[in-house]
Amino acid sequence: MRQKIVAGNWKMNNDLPQSISLLSSLVSKELHNEVKVMVAPAFPLLYPAKEIVKESNIEVIAQNINENKNGAFTGEVAASMLKSIGVTTVIIGHSERRAIYNETYSILAKKVEAALAQNFRVIFCVGEELDARKKNEHFSVVENQLAESLFQVSENDMKNVVIAYEPVWAIGTGETATPAEAQEMHAFIRTKISEKYNNAVAESISILYGGSVKPDNAQEIFSQPDVDGGLIGGASLNADDFTAIIKAF
Ligand code: PGA
Repeated sequence: MRQKIVAGNWKMNNDLPQSISLLSSLVSKELHNEVKVMVAPAFPLLYPAKEIVKESNIEVIAQNINENKNGAFTGEVAASMLKSIGVTTVIIGHSERRAIYNETYSILAKKVEAALAQNFRVIFCVGEELDARKKNEHFSVVENQLAESLFQVSENDMKNVVIAYEPVWAIGTGETATPAEAQEMHAFIRTKISEKYNNAVAESISILYGGSVKPDNAQEIFSQPDVDGGLIGGASLNADDFTAIIKAF
């Protein structure tokens, strides 16, 4: 059975009081036992967040890392620093990192390697822009993203990889892929993993959908056979909405 995961990507939202309030509220709710729940606050909030959720099953994860081990990289954060505060999962390749911070295929491949070298779990994001979808190039875009930044990983390290399919046109727009579109891409990604590695690896990797998942569409999306959970942006900032999404499984 693949692990079901619902991860909240807070992006650059929530200061300390807001984080405390949201996490305290989440901790007080009864969440789904079979679903791994993760939240990704901004770097300065990771340590306090961990303190608040320590008695719960909620995992605090990071939104990004630098690809280097340490050194003169002003403003950057290394995987080892996160590990030292007990954070061992990181989102890599989010479309906002790709588009706004010019994270190229090769930088992302290095980030994936840097994280896996520290035994992190990586949530690796892929997804096409609207233009590519309109031109029917979405499969080749996602295939390239996998080939260029992820498929250098050893079969053994793939155990620590989760993939998030996030069509860029659905992120923060209120538009979602239809459940059928999500399923089609998730199945495609699984086929590519099987071709590169083998069927056992493909069948064991959790593939999350992201892009305007809300309480009222989560159930339909999560019911697709190759959708193993969600990466949630906007709706993860509200405890009731995030909880409802977790319970949609
Ligand atoms: P959204 O963001 O749920 O606000 O669309 C998803 C994401 O960017 O991970």
